[in-house]
Amino acid sequence: MATISFARGAPSLDIVDVEGLRESARLAFDNDPAGTTAYGTSVGYVPLREWIAEQHGVAAEQVLVTNGSMQADAFLFELMVGAGDGVVVESPTYDRTLLNLRGRGADIHMFDLERDGIDVEQLAGALGQGFRPKLAHIIPNFQNPAGYTLSAAKRGRLLELATEHDFTIFEDDPYVSIRFEGEPLPTMLSQDDAGKVVYASSFSKTVCPGIRVGYLVGPQAVIKQIQTLATNTYISPNMVAQSIVNQFARSGRMDGAIETVKTALRARRDALVAALERELPEARFQAPQGGYFMWVELPEAVDVAELERAAAAREVIFVKGTDFLLEGGANTLRLAYSGVNPEQIDEGITRLAEAVRSLGVAA
Ligand SMILES: Cc1ncc(COP(=O)(O)O)c(C=O)c1O
Repeated sequence: MATISFARGAPSLDIVDVEGLRESARLAFDNDPAGTTAYGTSVGYVPLREWIAEQHGVAAEQVLVTNGSMQADAFLFELMVGAGDGVVVESPTYDRTLLNLRGRGADIHMFDLERDGIDVEQLAGALGQGFRPKLAHIIPNFQNPAGYTLSAAKRGRLLELATEHDFTIFEDDPYVSIRFEGEPLPTMLSQDDAGKVVYASSFSKTVCPGIRVGYLVGPQAVIKQIQTLATNTYISPNMVAQSIVNQFARSGRMDGAIETVKTALRARRDALVAALERELPEARFQAPQGGYFMWVELPEAVDVAELERAAAAREVIFVKGTDFLLEGGANTLRLAYSGVNPEQIDEGITRLAEAVRSLGVAA
């Protein structure tokens, strides 16, 4: 019995365009051997930086390409968040964001994540009472861990609040292109007239995570300061990887890769919904319109730490909801459906349901 993992937000190998990457690597070394093998500069591989700038309709000087968007997050936090600084995050939120912010000694304030995004009126209330954050970390599309998407109205309201109360919105958006249903919503970056948004995205979820290429887009002055941090940290990011992504994007492979991931993930989402409805009718969730994750709430009596042990004994793993929260959520979990095929999902949820039953708590 092989372990079935709903734990990691990564694509399975069968939906990675390995052949396209091999070809893009060949093109990178053939077409630009000097640029691909040099140190380059801290802003990243220049042709890729330009491609990203075009995609977002901004000047190249507003873009910095990094080793994964995790590095982009770390630079932004290093620049903007000191010990004791107020930071807004969604509740629940990405566990690594919480770890990084804790590591910087930030004063973390969590605001409820509703099915249409962060509770902006709860935030407005706190701001009205004198709360003065420096930064708000927001994952707008197919949020990690919940799979929810921030509505257009809430995007507008957050921009208003950021302008009025002078804080930066960190729009952390690695899942934006993995939408398999519904209409795409404009980024906050594209609606920002006041220089309040710094945006990050990544090729981890579309090309592959091992390539470690992500980026930041923001006001030129902020990018310039981060460029200094980047130079002092590593001289420059990985030029070989960025040159490969550049060829992958410019040869038209990117669109095909995104299509492959979207098609597979839609089928995986459907399989997950069907299996949960059949095996665990007491589970509560909202089927995501894209992305990699679904948040599941079990009856209050279920203790997810115990469930984790019972599930591991049946060789199925997931991440406890409590890892994404500062308090509460002992009956919640995150299921990543990106790395498992529909058959594995079916079997995995059957085992998870057995694990729930084994706890002997009432539904
Ligand atoms: C919200 C969010 N931000 C950042 C990252 C990190 O992505 P990268 O692989 O580009 O470092 C992830 C990865 O899971 C994520 O979910």
